[in-house]
Amino acid sequence: MEERKQTLLLGSDAEGIAQAARLLRESELVGIPTETVYGLAADALNGTAAARIFAAKGRPQDNPLIVHIASLSEWEPLVRELPAQAVRLAEAYWPGPLTMILPRSGRVPEAVSAGLPTVAVRMPSHPVARAIIEAADRPLAAPSANRSGSPSPTTAAHVLADMEGRIAAVVDGGPCSVGVESTVVDLTPTLQGGPVRLLRPGGITVPQLEAAAGTVVIDPAVTDRLAEGAVASSPGMKYKHYAPQAQVIIVRGDPEHYAAYVNRRAQEEPDRHVAALCFEEDRPRLQVPCVMYGRRDDPSSQARGLFDAMRRLDADGIDVAYAACPGQGGVGLAVYNRLLRAAAFTIVDA
Ligand code: TXA
Ligand code: MG
Repeated sequence: MEERKQTLLLGSDAEGIAQAARLLRESELVGIPTETVYGLAADALNGTAAARIFAAKGRPQDNPLIVHIASLSEWEPLVRELPAQAVRLAEAYWPGPLTMILPRSGRVPEAVSAGLPTVAVRMPSHPVARAIIEAADRPLAAPSANRSGSPSPTTAAHVLADMEGRIAAVVDGGPCSVGVESTVVDLTPTLQGGPVRLLRPGGITVPQLEAAAGTVVIDPAVTDRLAEGAVASSPGMKYKHYAPQAQVIIVRGDPEHYAAYVNRRAQEEPDRHVAALCFEEDRPRLQVPCVMYGRRDDPSSQARGLFDAMRRLDADGIDVAYAACPGQGGVGLAVYNRLLRAAAFTIVDA
């Protein structure tokens, strides 16, 4: 990957969108806002452009990319078959934070699918993402725009922090409204009459999926560590993910016990920078620095705040962060899933 001098920061006005589209048509990489997290976009039908994404992110070659489209007419050429459940899910939740895995057509470059026989497709709802796909006049391959292994970016500043000098431009569309990555579902089992399989929880919840597509099987890797030697249904699930430099430990328990536990640990570890990765309501009880990620009973606020909070832990030089455990209902399952990986599955009971 050649080093660049400067990454352009583009506005989300007509001029910024036109310039982003021009760069993408020239096989360049551009950071784009979506409703979930910022994406690192390249021309999805150009294998050489897509391959540059892996170099810029430091992404393992076997981890496939999501292809982003702006209209349903772009979907069919990418896949070999469109099962009924896929069409129903698209009708219900596209555009939006839902990614569907289907058998891929010959038009999808090997690099995009990392050699798998399937392709992941999503139609984002963010107006700027849609405008850029339309102006580029092609589907865009885009993983989250972070360096591989670090927390996903939810602002243009996060993208620059990770990618400055490594990509041509980033379009600033403000903070992401969902804040965690899209729900990923595998539709290939439905071609043999099987159920939809949830590989990664996200902005579209399990009850929402079930309302449109019937029974949903949750892949064990959503809430459990992948067994030694097991094959990941989604290659991304086997890598340490979303992790700040700080050690993260999830603390289960009610607010009183959580705060008492964290305050005690801070006294027992005077030579480490201890912080609480907590909810807003927890702050009054805590005697340590607090980095907050939303309100206790509001999983949507937790999703919006989580990745920024992880980045703040590192900016503040925290060694160990004791995280208040989120609930697992609704979008909370996505918050829990990301936090588990950041904590390398370390959970204690207060
Ligand atoms: O919200 C999102 O999905 C964001 C925005 C930018 O759209 N994108 C995103 O991409 O999170 P990425 O690359 O960070 O995560 C994609 C996940 C990875 O875990 C990858 O392994 C999985 O989807 N994936 C992609 N294609 C797949 C396939 N064909 N089969 C199984 N898993 C796949
Ligand atoms: Mg990612």
